[in-house]
Parts: sequence; structure tokens; C-alpha cells
Amino acid sequence: MKKEIHRMSPVTESLDRIAAEAPERIGGAADLDELERLRLEFLGRKGRLTEILHGLVQVSEDQRPLVGKRANQLKNEIVGLLERRREALEGERLRTELAGHRLDVTLPGRRPWTGTVHPLSRTFERINQIFFSMGFSLAEGPEIEDEFHNFDALNTPPDHPARDVQDTIYLEGGLLLRSHTSPVQVRHLQSHRPPVRIIAPGRVFRRDTPDASHSPVFHQLEGLYVDDHVTFGDLKYTLEKFALQLFGPGATLRFRPSFFPFTEPSAEVDCRCVFCAGKGCGICKRSGWIELLGCGMVDPNVFTAVGYDPERWTGFAFGLGIDRICMLVHGINDIRLFLESDVDFLSQF
Ligand code: DAH
Repeated sequence: MKKEIHRMSPVTESLDRIAAEAPERIGGAADLDELERLRLEFLGRKGRLTEILHGLVQVSEDQRPLVGKRANQLKNEIVGLLERRREALEGERLRTELAGHRLDVTLPGRRPWTGTVHPLSRTFERINQIFFSMGFSLAEGPEIEDEFHNFDALNTPPDHPARDVQDTIYLEGGLLLRSHTSPVQVRHLQSHRPPVRIIAPGRVFRRDTPDASHSPVFHQLEGLYVDDHVTFGDLKYTLEKFALQLFGPGATLRFRPSFFPFTEPSAEVDCRCVFCAGKGCGICKRSGWIELLGCGMVDPNVFTAVGYDPERWTGFAFGLGIDRICMLVHGINDIRLFLESDVDFLSQF
């Protein structure tokens, strides 16, 4: 029997060509776009292998199962090749992406924003601490006061200018916003017995038009010492020790005679300018001195108003303006900054 010469059909030829080129072309696809183009070329609806599979009907019946099997195997191979190349390309893309976003774990972390202590609170804390170290303790009184505690008991006559509505902020029912911290003296003497040694820091209120050095709300610290035989010498000693601790070893005080209704004698106290050592500068307005406080010996009329025997008790008192000291210490040039809650300003402290 004559052996039938097996002539290669064009279909088989095409399959061989596809089998020969596919691994190299797919393996060499440069990116996912090229890979997609190759997928369409081989397996798309009009792809080379798809057309062969569709054209199987034209292959002779005896060849069809073989060729069909071959074509299907090839299709699976190509699907596998495409899949492996896709994984490789995606892996590469991920690696380059990650390299671009690499985290530098040695960078310092972002600090959480923390609040700061208000410069006035700092000044209060510092000054309170100095007086605590000298045996004074803390006293408090209400910001809403009455005329008795704010004026009458402090020996302030009915026609005194401080009582004027232009200076004091009056509320209904004979009440007012305290215009100084001195009423805490009265309240404390009414509710305690000597020896009394207190400081009373707090807010005070006056009818003032705000500008760089005036504010209708400002801060004072009242001091009061009542005992047997308290002298003006005790007052001087206490304030000098205080100034030395607040401003440092060079601090020098000057006592000028003055007048306050609730002290007799009274004085105003200046500190030699710590910025120019008394030579005169912008901060002390060329005077070489900085006004610090008012003080004096407790007036006998104040003792009488709170039911103390003025023959038996003696005392001294002083009142410090805190805002100005704070402005001096920190070089702040506008008192209004204290009340504005400006975070840029406050975060400097
Ligand atoms: N209360 C006064 C004022 O507001 C300050 C003051 C002066 C307080 C003399 C005192 C003092 O205790 O003795 O201006």
C-alpha cells in the first residue's frame, strides 16, 4: 500500500508559526499596553488563533480532532504566557512605584501641637512663687464687687474721682466690676484674724478706651501684711527682696511719696531700668526708672471699717500692675495682645 504522503495543511503551518513566535514576543512585551495588543493579536475576537479555531470546519474530518487539540493546547499556552508576563510587568510597576514613594523612617515625626502657658499666667506664676517663698499665701475675691468693698471700706471718699462712672464700670443693684484688687484686702481681713500675709492676683476692670498701653481689662496683684509692729521698713525689705528675685541682682528700687486713700503714708515704687541700667532708654522713656507699684501702711480707717482696733494692728499693702511687668519682661509692646487669643502671638511663649 502506498504510504500516503502527509502534506502539512496551511492550518497546521499557521499553528506552528504562532507557537514559534508567541513565547518570544509575549516574553518581550515592554509594558501592559503592548501585552494587551499581543493578547488581541492572538486571542482577540479576530485574533490569529481564534480565526484558526473558527476555521476548523474546513479541516478534513480525520485531521480535525488533532488540529483542534493542538490549537486548544496552544491557546492555553498563550493564556499562560500572557498571564506570567502580566504578573512580571505588574510586579515591576509596583516595585518602581514603591521605590518612588519610599518612606524615610529616620525622618523626625510630626510633633502634635501643644498649647503654651499664657504670658500673663507665667508672670503671675513667677511673682506668686516669689511671695510664697516669703511666707505669703493666696487669697481671692469676686470680680463683681460692691461699693463698700471696692471703695468705702478702703477709705475712698464719696466724691473721689475713681468712683466716677467714667472710671468705674457699674452694674445694676449697687454692684460694679472691681476697679482694683484692693477689695480682697477688705474681704480677707473680715474673714481672718492676724497675722495676715496674703497676695491676691486677679483681673480688674476700668472704663478705658483700648490702645497699646490701655485696656478695660487688666491684671493686678495685691499684697497685704497685717500683724503687730509691722513697719515701713518691713515693706521696703519685702519689696526689695521681691525685685531682686524678679529682675536679678542689679535691681534697685526707688520709693516716691504718693497718696492712696487706703494707705498712710503711701509711696509709688520704681525699679531702676533693667534694660539700660538707669542710663535712659526707649523702654523707661529716657527716665532710667520703671514704675512698678503703689504701696503704703494700711490706713487706720481701713482697720476700723473691717472691725479691727487701729491702735492694736499695723500693716502694709501694695498693688502691682501685672500687664506692664509682663510686657517689660517679654518685650511686648501692645497690651491688647493679651486678650486677643492670637495663636501666632501666644505660641511664642
Ligand atoms: N489699688 C491701687 C490701684 O489700683 C494700687 C495700690 C496702691 C494698692 C497702694 C495698694 C496700695 O494696696 O497700698 O491703683
